[in-house]
Amino acid sequence: MSTDFDVKLEKKSYIPDPSYKAGSALGDYTTAYQKFLDNPDAFWDEKAKELDWMKPWDAVLKWDYPKAQWFAGGKLNITCNCLDRHVKNGRRNKLALIWRGDNDSEEVYTYRQLHRAVMLLANALQKLGVTKGDRVCLYMPLIPEHIIAMLACARIGAVHSIVYAGFGAEALHSRIRDAQAKVVITADVSYRKGKSINLRGIVEDAVKNSSCVEKVVILSRERSPLELYKEMEVDYYAIQEGLEDTCPAEEMDAEDPLFILYTSGTTGQPKGIVHTCGGYAVGTHYTCKYIFDIKDSDVFWCTADPGWITGHSYIVYGPLAVGATVVITETTPEYPDPGVWWNIIEDLGVTIFYTAPTAIRMFMRVGEEWPNKYDLQSLRIIGSVGEPLNPEAFEWYYRVIGKNRCPILDTWWQTETGMHMITTPIGEPMKPGFAGLPIPGVLADVVDKQGDPVPAGQGGLLVIKRPWPSMMRTVYKNEERYEKYWNQIRNYYTVGDLAVRDEDGYIMVLGRADDIIIVSGHNLGTAEVESALVEHESVAEAAVIGIPDDIKGQAVKAFVTLIKGYEPSDKLVSELIYHVRMTIGPIAMPAAIEFVDSLPKTRSGKIMRRVLKAKEMGVDPGDISTLEE
Ligand code: PRX
Repeated sequence: MSTDFDVKLEKKSYIPDPSYKAGSALGDYTTAYQKFLDNPDAFWDEKAKELDWMKPWDAVLKWDYPKAQWFAGGKLNITCNCLDRHVKNGRRNKLALIWRGDNDSEEVYTYRQLHRAVMLLANALQKLGVTKGDRVCLYMPLIPEHIIAMLACARIGAVHSIVYAGFGAEALHSRIRDAQAKVVITADVSYRKGKSINLRGIVEDAVKNSSCVEKVVILSRERSPLELYKEMEVDYYAIQEGLEDTCPAEEMDAEDPLFILYTSGTTGQPKGIVHTCGGYAVGTHYTCKYIFDIKDSDVFWCTADPGWITGHSYIVYGPLAVGATVVITETTPEYPDPGVWWNIIEDLGVTIFYTAPTAIRMFMRVGEEWPNKYDLQSLRIIGSVGEPLNPEAFEWYYRVIGKNRCPILDTWWQTETGMHMITTPIGEPMKPGFAGLPIPGVLADVVDKQGDPVPAGQGGLLVIKRPWPSMMRTVYKNEERYEKYWNQIRNYYTVGDLAVRDEDGYIMVLGRADDIIIVSGHNLGTAEVESALVEHESVAEAAVIGIPDDIKGQAVKAFVTLIKGYEPSDKLVSELIYHVRMTIGPIAMPAAIEFVDSLPKTRSGKIMRRVLKAKEMGVDPGDISTLEE
């Protein structure tokens, strides 16, 4: 990949009211960053001490390239930080969780109630035979019990592996098998746009041929008695009956795994990103306190799903570790009308709102009359994550939602990084199109293939030059894939994105440098979609590319060659789209399928997606050879 391309950079910037910086936990960015540079270990040592530990660590960082251990020797349980300490220190009756469903249905949990619910389920899981280190797969709707289940696993040292409940049976199956999950927790249904989706049926398909699974726990949302297959299925409530609602927290080593989360790779097989107990707790707590600047009075709403890293870090572990009031909702932004989310902000008095560019662009399209119907004055900070926030979307978000007042935190990070890495800290000048600066604690740079920094205005590879506490520790059962991140350029973590820096050091993330497509903020590997397509009886070969989409950022387009005897038809297009939907899930559905006689390939037989992409975009393939391998 050549990285010597120049990028035209906008010069516009917005400066937040000085009171933001004055009142922020981070204070002055430059001072905080310098403090980190002066003594990185002392910096993280101080941040780690803000958590409750059962035993202190022997060393802040042990770095044996490319393997890191953070806070080695330290013992803790993340749930003590998310629950116990608040129950003890005055947040006992503070609202921890507010859930909204359709028709304004609502459920709330105080910290005390959440603590007890977690301990009760933890006892039930133990009774089912789940012990420290066992993997538990969660395939659940966005309801409080989802969060309770995550924390219940963490309480007893079980490793959760959450699969987004929009994935299909086969995607779920492969993740259950790879993690060798002992228990799967699900619900009978989830509700989406007024319709119920049969999650249980999908799980039943997915656990076929998964001999690792001993029990499937099913939450009946209607609270009507479930007809269970007794060999395998148990009722979420029944397993808790008669049990204690206290459960001591398992003492976890800082380096014990906390969870596995699958993310798309450039090969067909998703990667199980492994995060550990100590460093992840420190990174998510630190960024909630100092980057989101969450204060005790804040009502924090991150619109992600726990099935993605954003949900893990910024619905559950980070915000609860700082003792915030967290809003979650099962509602989608446009049902029953595009005012539902703004109504939630007004009604609940949300102060920090964190969403994705794809949602912002959808709201832009439906018109500002929707947010304008509601009082959004409670908002203090608004955030964005998942893909580049284009300048038009930035301007709209700033003016219509932030009322020219709220700083926008455009946070760049990844499943692999666990926490925010690059953003514009509260109070610093904001530049539309730029994520911003590396946060204190993070050394980021834009470099060429050799690892040498490129001048301002020139595109290059985004790298992280020093380990950080919430970095992934490995790819589950695939150490080689882990090492690849650190081997591409020796000693640096290569993130896989192209970026450019301006004269002030602000970083603009341009997009992926590899075969990942980001559809509505969901990260999809081309290979996963391609392998789903070739499973279909009619398909000989398939190549998938991302094409620009006004709302979703990118959409999937597939090029397909057919097996002899099959003819292109509209019916076959529908069939193939349906097949991908059922195999991977709705997010992977191709927006277009084109039948071709052959696919462009290299001599070694690798499909040259960039040639297809160039043809699609009407450019000379040479023009984009600079962007892709
Ligand atoms: O390409 C970057 C993009 O999303 C990728 C990471 O995807 P995932 O692991 O699914 O995590 C998404 C949520 C943290 C990155 O490599 N990305 C994420 N945030 C931004 C972004 N691109 C530009 N700006 C962002 N703020």
